[in-house]
Amino acid sequence: MAAKAVKTIGVLTSGGDAPGMNAAIRAVVRVAINKGLKVKGIMRGYAGLLDEEIVDMDTTSVSDIISRGGTILYTARCMEFTTPEGQQKGADICRKHGIDGIVVIGGDGSFRGAGKLSALGINTIGLPGTIDLDIACTDYTIGFDTAVNTAMEAIDKIRETSASHERCSIVEVMGRNAGYIALWCGLANGAEDILLPERYDGDEQALINRVIENRKRGKKHNIIINAEGIGHSASMAKRIEAATGIETRATILGHMQRGGTPTCKDRVYASIMGAKAAMLLAEGKSNRLVAYKHGEFVDYDIQEALNMTKDISDEQYEISKLLVR
Ligand code: ADP
Ligand code: F6P
Repeated sequence: MAAKAVKTIGVLTSGGDAPGMNAAIRAVVRVAINKGLKVKGIMRGYAGLLDEEIVDMDTTSVSDIISRGGTILYTARCMEFTTPEGQQKGADICRKHGIDGIVVIGGDGSFRGAGKLSALGINTIGLPGTIDLDIACTDYTIGFDTAVNTAMEAIDKIRETSASHERCSIVEVMGRNAGYIALWCGLANGAEDILLPERYDGDEQALINRVIENRKRGKKHNIIINAEGIGHSASMAKRIEAATGIETRATILGHMQRGGTPTCKDRVYASIMGAKAAMLLAEGKSNRLVAYKHGEFVDYDIQEALNMTKDISDEQYEISKLLVR
C-alpha cells in the first residue's frame, strides 16, 4: 500500500484489557508527538469511536501510567463496528476529527476492525494486546507475562494449602480457547497434570488413574492446571473425588489474571511495540500489525497476519510431562 502522510493519530484499546496496555499507549503518544504528530485518545474502543468519545492527548496525559495495569482509555466490545455501516461511520468520524491514522491495541477481533478502517482510508497499525498469547503472528502479546506470573503466584499458594490437606486441586486458568497460560503455569508450578484445549483427549479415567498413582508414590498434593477452554473444573473435581476418595477442590482464578502491576517484560516490550506503531504511522504505513517473532520486533500485513496459525509447543508440552513423573 502506498505511503500516506498522517498529521493526527488516534489510539484505542479494544477487547479484553491486558497489563502493559498503558505502557503501549504511553509509547504511542510520546513517540508520535516526538515525530511531530498530534495524538487523540479514543475512549472505550470502537464503541467510543462511534460515540465520538475522543480527547486530545499530550505527553503529560500519559504520565505516571507505565506501572499501572488496565487501560486508561478503557476498553469495550462493539457489535455495531462489525457491520459495514458501523465501519463507514467510524471512518467518517475519524475524518471529522482530523484523525488520519489509528493505533489499535487488542486481539484478532480488534485487528479485523483495524483492517476495515485501513480499507476505508484511515491508516491503521495493530498492537497485540491480550493475556491469552493467542495471536498467530507473534511469540509475545502484551499482558501474557504479567498474567502468567500472577497465576503462577496464586497457584503456588493453592499448592501450599493443597499439600497441607493432602488434597487434589484443579486450578482453572484463562486463555479463551488457547492453552498458553495453562502450559506456562503447568511448567512454572510443577503441576502434576496440564489440560490444554489443544491436546486434551477427554480421557478422564486416565487422569483419575494418575491421581491415584501419584498418591501411591507419596505425593501430598496433586495440582491439575485446567485451561478455561476445557472448563468444567467444578464437576471434574467432584468426579475425581468420588473416583479416588481424595478430597478435591476446584479454583477458578478468573479475572485476577487480567489485572495487576505489569512485569518489567510487559512494560519494556509494550513500550517498544507502541513506539514502533507510532513510527510506522509517521512513515505513512498502514494495515500493519506489530509482532515479536524469533527474538525480533517486526511488522506484518494485517490480513496476512490474521491468516496465520500457530499451536502450543509440543516440545514444551512433552517436557512438562517428563518433569513430574
Ligand atoms: P479481541 O480484539 O480481543 O479479539 P473481540 O473479538 O471481542 O476481542 O473484538 C473486539 C472488537 O473488535 C469487537 O467488539 C468489535 O467491535 C471489533 N471486531 C471484532 N470482529 C470484527 C470484524 N470481523 N470486523 C470489524 N470489527 C470487528
Ligand atoms: O481474552 C482475554 C480473556 O481474559 C480470556 O482469557 C477470557 O476468555 C475472556 O477474556 C474473558 O472475557 P470477559 O472479561 O468478557 O469475561
